[in-house]
Amino acid sequence: MERSFVILKPDAVQRGLIGEIVARFERHGLKIVAMQMVQVSDDLARRHYAVHEGKPFFDGLIQYITSAPVVALVVEGTGAIAVVRNMVGGTRPGDSAPGTIRGDYGLEVGRNLIHASDGPETAVAEIALWFGEDLIEWQRCTDPWIFE
Ligand code: RTP
Ligand code: MG
Repeated sequence: MERSFVILKPDAVQRGLIGEIVARFERHGLKIVAMQMVQVSDDLARRHYAVHEGKPFFDGLIQYITSAPVVALVVEGTGAIAVVRNMVGGTRPGDSAPGTIRGDYGLEVGRNLIHASDGPETAVAEIALWFGEDLIEWQRCTDPWIFE
């Protein structure tokens, strides 16, 4: 069973979209195994986005992600990493397909609402960075109707 790490970015929280976005993951069958509201520190933001250090948008990205609370969560399910990336849509909301989260709710790359892990290694590293061992392994009563 695969896990993906997701951040509902400050614009998603400020715009009251936490419930709508989390509901999409629940409806798809993904299981939430960690979730927390976080006021992101400069240090955590820089560590999370270390791969982008030095790029022209880096300072603005750190400013954005630390500007107001976020909701961090871990979702679990078959092929969760690709499933979530497909649900999120492309980096630029203006180019993202309707039906995706960014395509339905966003317009600009610097306000693209959500982060999701882009591969198995980043998922493991991001979950460790944000939650350590604090995941909840639980039996969902619908699991046998979602997982074969
Ligand atoms: P994320 O890491 O947040 O899930 O987004 P992503 O994989 O779709 O895109 P990535 O290339 O990793 O970029 C990380 C975040 O940086 C901001 N960005 N701004 N102004 C720009 O050209 C630009 N490019 C990227 C976005 O907030 C993007 O989500
Ligand atoms: Mg990325």
